Amino acid sequence: MSGTPKSEFETRNAADPAFWDERFAQDFTPWDAHGVPAEFEAFAAALAPRPTLVPGCGNGWEAGWLHARGWPVTAIDFSAKAVASARRALGAAAVVVREADFFAFTPEPRCELIYERAFLCALPPALRESYAERVAALLPPGGLLAGYFYIGETRGGPPFAMPQADLDDLLGADFALLEDRPSASPLPIFSGGQERWQLWRRGP
Ligand SMILES: C[S@@+](CC[C@H](N)C(=O)[O-])C[C@H]1O[C@@H](n2cnc3c(N)ncnc32)[C@H](O)[C@@H]1O
Repeated sequence: MSGTPKSEFETRNAADPAFWDERFAQDFTPWDAHGVPAEFEAFAAALAPRPTLVPGCGNGWEAGWLHARGWPVTAIDFSAKAVASARRALGAAAVVVREADFFAFTPEPRCELIYERAFLCALPPALRESYAERVAALLPPGGLLAGYFYIGETRGGPPFAMPQADLDDLLGADFALLEDRPSASPLPIFSGGQERWQLWRRGP
């Protein structure tokens, strides 16, 4: 099972790749859905393939699923252990996984969809503004930011919940919220708040 650490963790700073390396090395990945969440599958199945970025991909199940359906997708993670784990997990789709820091990575070609799951809530809150700036910079007008957002009162983390009003403040200047509903199958790690499926469209 991916929920019980074998020993105490040494790293506490989620902005440090070593934090995530240590957890992947111990197979402590309680955020991992081990598959493609229902809302995302239905959403993507209804779209034409388009260049897609999956930041903080972890095991990257969704990227593998998109790749198998002919989507041009790039999945990045700054943890070498996460990248190695994804490459083991994804078989032929391992080619889509790259070791890279989201804040320093520019996909080629430009992405038109960014898939979010358990990435924003994995970042220390001090990095949220940088996240919002980066997703706005990477997407063209009409580009989509779709996925799962962890809504709730701000407490410790990761996962770091945030109130919907804070997320609106963060993304509202550059994006319009088109869809918003509870995830049909949130994992226990998200039980302290609410994991919500949301679709945001980049404005002009
Ligand atoms: C909670 S995990 C979620 C993984 C995956 N999205 C999922 O749903 O299973 C967060 C991931 O984000 C990665 N990460 C954190 N900060 C990052 C950054 N600046 N650039 C790239 N990856 C990052 C971590 O290494 C970790 O694999």
